[in-house]
Amino acid sequence: MDRIERALTKAKSGQRVVRLRPAAQAAPPAPPPTPAANDTVRNSATVRSSPSVLKRMRVVAATHDSVEADLFRMLRTRVLQKLSQANHRSLAIVSPSAAAGKTLTAANLATSIAKDLNHTVLLVDLDLRRPRVHSYFGLRPEHGIADYLTGKAELTACLIHPGIERLVLLPGRGSHKTSSEMLTSPRMTSLSKELRDRYLDRIVVYDLPPLLTTDDAISFLPQVEACLMVVREGGSTKGELEQALALVADANLIGTVLNDSNEKISNRYYG
Ligand SMILES: Nc1ncnc2c1ncn2[C@@H]1O[C@H](COP(=O)(O)OP(=O)(O)OP(=O)(O)O)[C@@H](O)[C@H]1O
Ligand SMILES: [Mg+2]
Repeated sequence: MDRIERALTKAKSGQRVVRLRPAAQAAPPAPPPTPAANDTVRNSATVRSSPSVLKRMRVVAATHDSVEADLFRMLRTRVLQKLSQANHRSLAIVSPSAAAGKTLTAANLATSIAKDLNHTVLLVDLDLRRPRVHSYFGLRPEHGIADYLTGKAELTACLIHPGIERLVLLPGRGSHKTSSEMLTSPRMTSLSKELRDRYLDRIVVYDLPPLLTTDDAISFLPQVEACLMVVREGGSTKGELEQALALVADANLIGTVLNDSNEKISNRYYG
């Protein structure tokens, strides 16, 4: 805790470090949904995620009645406040090292935002080497975003509505060694722009690979308006954390989630 707080304060000097409080204020109201807001939902195949899989995979935000779901609601509120203050609608989830809990956080945050009636959410799996978003929803996609980026599939063929209202997934499939080239390709650049600009009430959440293992995350960050850093307690050294923070120095880091903490409340948010 102290280690992380010190590292964060040092690297982001001037930025206030705030503990997540249960009484987080409600986000300012989002613009009303546009009539076409559900086009993405309508244009995607519905493959209903099983509640037991969501439970087993810890997508706790899919149900309302748990302490963990409350924590993601608090995170959602803080994230939506930060995004709406700057009129931002795209957010990347990053971490220094592997297995920090990025995909789990992305799945829960996206689900929690979708449960807020003011927003639709598109959760995009940009871990092109090890895509895992689909497994958190118990799905086996026939096409992934890489198929779209390489011209093998239409975008609509890649979209899946997992049966959670207002949430659509753009999953990954397979493993792609040319991932960083794909992430900076003109097709990806225009896709990220189109996804951000099309609907004013849509939040686009990108699940990225770790910052320190490949250049994928850092290559993609210029295409996104904000990022959230997930740090797993005991999962990164201070040096790794500092390195990761240096890598996102030019990105808009809106906060940090301390995941899997030994303290009583298991997720904390610093913004
Ligand atoms: N707070 C937590 N409590 C229990 N298990 C957790 C927690 N956070 C993550 N896990 C588990 O740890 C594993 C890694 O989580 P996750 O896939 O979200 O990490 P990641 O940062 O996306 O990893 P990668 O860098 O490989 O993409 C998963 O099995 C996940 O269920
Ligand atoms: Mg992941």
